[in-house]
Amino acid sequence: MVAGNWKMNGSIESIKILLDGIKQGLGEVNNAEIIVCPSSIYLGEVHSQIKDTVISLGAQNVSEHASGAFTGEISVKMLKDYNCKYSIIGHSERRTLYSETDQLIAKKFVTLCEAHTIPIFCIGELLDEREAGKTEDIVGRQIDAVLDLADIFAFKNSVIAYEPVWAIGTGKTATPDQAQEVHSFIRKKLSVLDADIGEQVQILYGGSMNASNVAQLLSMPDIDGGLIGGASLKSADFLAICAAANAAAE
Ligand code: PGA
Repeated sequence: MVAGNWKMNGSIESIKILLDGIKQGLGEVNNAEIIVCPSSIYLGEVHSQIKDTVISLGAQNVSEHASGAFTGEISVKMLKDYNCKYSIIGHSERRTLYSETDQLIAKKFVTLCEAHTIPIFCIGELLDEREAGKTEDIVGRQIDAVLDLADIFAFKNSVIAYEPVWAIGTGKTATPDQAQEVHSFIRKKLSVLDADIGEQVQILYGGSMNASNVAQLLSMPDIDGGLIGGASLKSADFLAICAAANAAAE
């Protein structure tokens, strides 16, 4: 699985150019799921441009509420109107810049699951947390917040994205071994509660993944794909990552 997180980038014009490039270059994608996550204002635009392609649509965030007086928020029902199959939640930028807590993100997780929209649930540690040897405590705590509100079956139709915060947008990718170690921890943590769910859940890596490091990362046994920021904004880079994912899944 390859998900492009476009963040707050793009315009009607640039999105058309980007999607045209991706559509032209994508070719046969038999094994990998390809997702683009535009800013919410462009969901409708992207929805109509990827119709009749293999590309799926994802949002970057969702409200934990169903509807009502929540100015500026977007409900899961609205996402479904545009065929959003996925929504990112808990991205580190939401956690740090918008003070989203583990508990709020857990509510969003449940809201998405109840509406049969697949969460791309982002977790990851800060640099000082890694240096203090707390990586497993942090990602464990982030997962436990969801388990406190829902049970393990909530993870049945969900995607986890391990994104070490120090690797996001910095050009400093986790090494394949560093990423594998955390992915394996996550999978084992879920497997203790339900072996099938632990085995089946897709765990993406995110954080400066690009065309030159994707193959090595995806060769690790517990890395099932990537959540791509910067490199998803150029069709050639995104296509190279999609091709690598397609090959890795063969
Ligand atoms: P990056 O972003 O690929 O630019 O590091 C990843 C993300 O934030 O999801």
